[in-house]
Amino acid sequence: MDKKDTITVIDNSTGKELELPILRPTEGIPTIDVRALYRELGYFTYDPGFLATASCRSSITFLDGENGILRYRGYPIEQLAEKSTFLEVCYLLYYGELPNKEQQEAFNEDIRTHTLLHEAIKRFFSGFRRDAHPMGIMVGVVGALSSFFHDHENNVHDASMRQQAAHRLIAKMPTIAAWCYRYAHGLPFMYPQNDLGYAENFLHMMFALPTEDYTPPPLFVKALDLIMILHADHEQNASTSTVRLTGSSEANPFAAVSAGIASLWGPAHGGANEAVIKMLLDIVHSDNDVQYYVDRAKDKTDRFRLMGFGHRIYKNFDPRAVIIRKSCHDILEQLEPGNPYQELFDTAMELEKIALEDDYFKSRNLYPNVDYYSGIILLAMGIPLNMFTVIFALSRTIGWISHWNEMMQDPESRIGRPRQLYSGEELRNYAKLENR
Ligand code: SDX
Repeated sequence: MDKKDTITVIDNSTGKELELPILRPTEGIPTIDVRALYRELGYFTYDPGFLATASCRSSITFLDGENGILRYRGYPIEQLAEKSTFLEVCYLLYYGELPNKEQQEAFNEDIRTHTLLHEAIKRFFSGFRRDAHPMGIMVGVVGALSSFFHDHENNVHDASMRQQAAHRLIAKMPTIAAWCYRYAHGLPFMYPQNDLGYAENFLHMMFALPTEDYTPPPLFVKALDLIMILHADHEQNASTSTVRLTGSSEANPFAAVSAGIASLWGPAHGGANEAVIKMLLDIVHSDNDVQYYVDRAKDKTDRFRLMGFGHRIYKNFDPRAVIIRKSCHDILEQLEPGNPYQELFDTAMELEKIALEDDYFKSRNLYPNVDYYSGIILLAMGIPLNMFTVIFALSRTIGWISHWNEMMQDPESRIGRPRQLYSGEELRNYAKLENR
């Protein structure tokens, strides 16, 4: 091992030295391979939240938080957002290369022919209360799918079985997502239409009625396809790491994706776009102005944070936010004046302006992230608040299942089992307890 590709650790309590290899990425931050640390020096590493820990090798997505770079399989998100479609991005993320015409048509056909759900699945929906959060329904229904596809049990090492699970999930998530909405609103389930595109089919299942024809507005179809491209993958975020950790025990992939949906639900992660709108509605309905809320977000004694601002990785700008901001403004310009959310949209633009000019936010590189704008677009499309993270999950399914597939092929992959820094009681003797 060349000295320049190592780090020397010296344990000053014993004088012992250990050379650890530096693993260099294609691009980005090099890592120290610490696997010998416990064996040679008897230490674990400590990194709550895994902020400085690489959990795996991956070739799917590259992020550069300092420079606002996001690439799927090497292609810049800006180019994919402008030129690609969500289904083409699905193919790219899963297989690693952009498809030719025949490959794309075969992929689209396979997705189209897997959009239906087993009729028994409909009974799962009726077991939920009408006011159940759609994310709770989605966690349950996707997890239940594992009981409908036994062929994925104990076959996670078979590439064709993994591919079939991936295609089934990509195909069925729009149906499940739309049916979550229909059930909550007491509407009959609309079945997928195989002659419609992916985003168009989802909007049709969401808003069509058996009593009249419905064609989703092309502007909304295009905006939804863009939102799905931008949310498709994001390296080792909380929900993707959850799917990897769950899948590392060779669990059924539908069960692993169900765990990812549960993780995404949190307001610090995928639930942020719903939290953004709730925050904006609070501002609109309060007697306080926007500046009052900006000042609250800066007050350390107040747990209030501006939802949709800041990011764990992007300590500059979120490239997805730059892209989706234009789509958001385009849609707002198309809206009829006096639409029910005009005041909310005006408040969002005012908050964005004030925060972007405020030293507290600028000094901490707290810029609007993708969730700040995606919620506004979805609301403008008539999609209810509690469906926002469902659409995030619909989009991120391809990222989750691509990482799961990559992990199942990784020779270095093992069942995930982090250690801990124990801070509990030392040995105590039960027998010595006085009568309590
Ligand atoms: C997603 O991981 C991913 O890739 C996630 C995601 C994906 O695609 O999978 O990108 C999707 O989750 C986007 C993020 C959505 N979440 C939100 O919008 C919720 C609001 N944002 C914050 O909760 C926060 O910014 C996080 C959770 C996103 C990041 O939290 P960090 O990394 O712990 O933030 P930090 O500690 O680096 O913050 C630095 C400073 C702190 O203040 P100081 O201690 O320096 O004085 O910035 C402050 C924080 O208090 N800060 C905020 C803030 N976010 C951070 N202050 C006010 N409002 C905020 N939103």
